[in-house]
Amino acid sequence: MAKSTTSFTCTACGASHSKWSGRCEACGAWNTIIEEAPLSAGPKALGSKGRTIPLSDLSTEEAAPPRVASGIAELDRVLGGGLVPASAILVGGDPGIGKSTLLLQATAAFAKAGLTTLYISGEEAAAQVRMRALRLGLSDARVQLGAETSLRDILTTLDAVRPGLVVIDSIQTMWLDTIEAAPGSVSQVRAAAHELVTFAKKRGVSVILVGHVTKEGQIAGPRVVEHMVDTVLYFEGERGHQFRILRAVKNRFGPADEIGVFEMTGAGLTEVANPSALFLSDREKATPGSAVFAGIEGTRPVLTEIQALVAPSTLGTPRRTVVGIDGGRLSTILAVLEARCGITFAGLDVFLNVAGGLRVSEPAADLAIAGAILSAREDVAIPPDMVLFGEISLSGALRPVGQTENRLKEASKLGFSQAIAPDRSKIGAETGMRVRQMPDLTAFVGEMFGAG
Ligand code: TYD
Ligand code: MG
Repeated sequence: MAKSTTSFTCTACGASHSKWSGRCEACGAWNTIIEEAPLSAGPKALGSKGRTIPLSDLSTEEAAPPRVASGIAELDRVLGGGLVPASAILVGGDPGIGKSTLLLQATAAFAKAGLTTLYISGEEAAAQVRMRALRLGLSDARVQLGAETSLRDILTTLDAVRPGLVVIDSIQTMWLDTIEAAPGSVSQVRAAAHELVTFAKKRGVSVILVGHVTKEGQIAGPRVVEHMVDTVLYFEGERGHQFRILRAVKNRFGPADEIGVFEMTGAGLTEVANPSALFLSDREKATPGSAVFAGIEGTRPVLTEIQALVAPSTLGTPRRTVVGIDGGRLSTILAVLEARCGITFAGLDVFLNVAGGLRVSEPAADLAIAGAILSAREDVAIPPDMVLFGEISLSGALRPVGQTENRLKEASKLGFSQAIAPDRSKIGAETGMRVRQMPDLTAFVGEMFGAG
């Protein structure tokens, strides 16, 4: 039976399809599907018997290998307490966000902590990396440098050196000579990552892969290798803001959703130990359209300011512009306000923004979002010493969220004295905050802004 020899793969998420289409059904991205030659001719009939693989039960004698801490606390926490030996980590992010800077600083820190570290750059010449190291004040760090893209040569070198950690910057520049495809194509990226991850596991070397998030379809994005690695970190930030957030989206060795906050300075990335203070630092006193959300990022409470602007629209379809929040979430909240509280936004533009460049994805932010929008619409300021949190359901009810006590404690620590939280929130111990609990959005609107 004749089989088709080509397959169609999405460069954004790596899903394979039997035919080309304009939109990937797996991830919804447009124009990302490309035709690809298959990796091999497919499984041939097994000619001879394989060997039986050794099996063992779950209770092992081996103690968990000790993690190596870099000393960069923001990084160590995101990794789940330090680098696990023989682990494979992917660090994704937009080009120019600071991945190379972060990883050069990290390799230097791990070298200082006693690991043999290798930094392989496929994008920059060794001299360029050295110049960056000079700028970062890391010239005498004991990092070994290589500028190479041939994976065969890299693996041979790694086998000879046997480092504790190797950084591959970036996976999209690596190529295997056994595969007939351009570097950066889905098959090259996948195969290169597979080789490196297998090497990591077999030889006990930790591997960090850098992957650029790509907007157009020709180069495979980091999502293509997400499933192969133990830990997936994304380095995010808004251009124009100096804050950078390292977020764990998958971690086999620690909690996901953990974040580390950095600031990009002239001398590289510096840690931000207290992000709440930073995200609130340039907050003006009691302005309409501003609400402080007591959120949780990973294991850490983080306070952020949500800003809204509501203005008469000149357009037929009013604008809904969001930065740092999901646009769908805003639409839902506006619809609930309209349907359950009778507050209409027809003919009004709504702009919503998370101050400082943080991205908020917790449903607990709903109430603060609604608060900021209503405050902007009614031109009534929310008291500057108040934080808000709670999930809004489609019925307009406020749903309690997790870690209420941690949220309140952090707010209290930063000088806030009152909070609005959903009914039935588990407040627990004394937090020093005056907490008003409300059952639904209607009660909230009535209390804060009068009957409407
Ligand atoms: P880089 O690490 O090269 O980004 P990536 O590897 O993710 O593409 O960082 C590039 C940006 O960082 C560049 O615009 C300059 C800026 N930068 C600083 O602001 N300070 C520094 O000390 C360094 C090294 C870079
Ligand atoms: Mg780079």
